[in-house]
Amino acid sequence: MASTLTPPKVADQKMFINGKRVDSVSGETFETLNPTTGDTICQVAAGDKADVDLAVKAARQAFESKAWTRMSAAERGRLLYKLGDLVEANSKELAALESLDNGKPVRDSQYVDIPMTANVFRYYGGWADKIQGKVIPMSGPFHAYTRHEPVGVAGQIIPWNFPALMASWKWGPALAAGCTVVLKPAEQTPLTALRLAELATEAGFPEGVINVVTGMGPTAGAAIASHMDIDKVAFTGSTEVGRAIMKAAAQSNLKRVSLELGGKSPNIIFADADVEKAAKFAYAALFFNMGQCCCAGSRLLVEDRVYDQVMDIITSRAKKQVLGDPFDEGTTQGPQVSQVQMDRILGYIETGKKEGARCVTGGQKVDRAGYFVEPTIFDDVKDDMTIAQEEIFGPVLTVLKFSDIDDAIKQANNTIYGLAAGIWTQNLNTANRMSASVKAGSVWVNCYNAFDPTIPFGGFKMSGFGRELGEYALANYTEVKAVVTALGK
Ligand code: NAI
Ligand code: MG
Repeated sequence: MASTLTPPKVADQKMFINGKRVDSVSGETFETLNPTTGDTICQVAAGDKADVDLAVKAARQAFESKAWTRMSAAERGRLLYKLGDLVEANSKELAALESLDNGKPVRDSQYVDIPMTANVFRYYGGWADKIQGKVIPMSGPFHAYTRHEPVGVAGQIIPWNFPALMASWKWGPALAAGCTVVLKPAEQTPLTALRLAELATEAGFPEGVINVVTGMGPTAGAAIASHMDIDKVAFTGSTEVGRAIMKAAAQSNLKRVSLELGGKSPNIIFADADVEKAAKFAYAALFFNMGQCCCAGSRLLVEDRVYDQVMDIITSRAKKQVLGDPFDEGTTQGPQVSQVQMDRILGYIETGKKEGARCVTGGQKVDRAGYFVEPTIFDDVKDDMTIAQEEIFGPVLTVLKFSDIDDAIKQANNTIYGLAAGIWTQNLNTANRMSASVKAGSVWVNCYNAFDPTIPFGGFKMSGFGRELGEYALANYTEVKAVVTALGK
């Protein structure tokens, strides 16, 4: 079934600095590809250090400009709200761009990614004039209070799995707090961030407040991480690059760092759960967005008594998936974002087989153009196997068995990551004990991927630090200033 959305024709793209679309200083470009076919969509300006310098200069000037400093917090909020409305008004165009560039089914981009993007902007619009300090009853003849001031110019580096949505998670709290931003979208998916920057201008954000430098990680991305005039860097992506960013921040100006990195999240089904529902959700917890989710429930832990029942349900769901063109409304699984990602995933599948796990369904590249991988499920997985420990970031589910709650806690936490966990049980004591025991930033009880702009998200352990969304994200973009005034006699 064809959808109402069709793949758009996209012109070559310049980057977005100081309110204008500009070529890169070097004149270099790169291609963004359509992962459904492997064809080039268009050329995109390839930014590097010189372009980041220009963007930072614009962001610094904007940060200090009267247009921004004299704008009331309420007005900043109104602009964010308007941006949310513009995202909604242009949602078809944005959804089509996202599906073209990333490969996600249009029913996801149209009904999940883009509406959530609009809602995140609106949510932070509400915060802009509610960011406030405290009056503190200090000892002695003093009047003491805190101000929550914007940290300054924020560098933001985002991945390709939720391109528009990640831009909103980064811009929303930064702009609400009064920062200005330089965003680098992933080189695989630069199109929607550029369009969002145009919509922000239409909403009324002054020039220089939002800048988008397109380019590669080791060039444009690294220039952001090591820049001496960027006050804060926020990153979402791989653990390895997160480490490099922290190092670059340490070796440059000690800019503030927040990192949202990978995961290997346990999704734990107890025998007393509503097993049908739990298994249905367990499928989506991993396979949503082709498995390209940092919080994917990639380690499914099932109590031994219901193990076979759960395996039957998830395996039959895997066999029912419709792999195909993301612009067909019936498609439930599109391509992986790139050849590189597809090859990594196929490599993990081979490793899983070699290490003795049993591939019960899938396991192959699909014989067609584009980067399609069959939905794959591994049985007989042991906790020390590579596929049980490393983030695969693709449609590969590993299923492990546990015997009782102590065993479940032990296996759940046997990972370097700590991003999310799912718990399925009808026993309140089990739910409470598990929620307190799993080391993860998000715990979903009898649900999974229950996202909302109001709810903080981020990692324990090597999944990173700092929280995005909710009130908590504002801490990433504010400095606390304590003002103590002596009271005269
Ligand atoms: P990546 O971490 O290389 O890319 C994420 C962003 O970082 C992109 O914008 C990229 O251009 C930028 N980047 C890359 N190298 C950089 C550097 N040296 N300095 C500054 N910025 C840099 O991730 P990649 O290679 O696309 O995916 C590899 C793996 O990372 C995936 O298989 C997955 O396991 C994980 N990943 C996790 C994500 C998450 O949501 N936490 C998102 C994307 C990837
Ligand atoms: Mg692309």
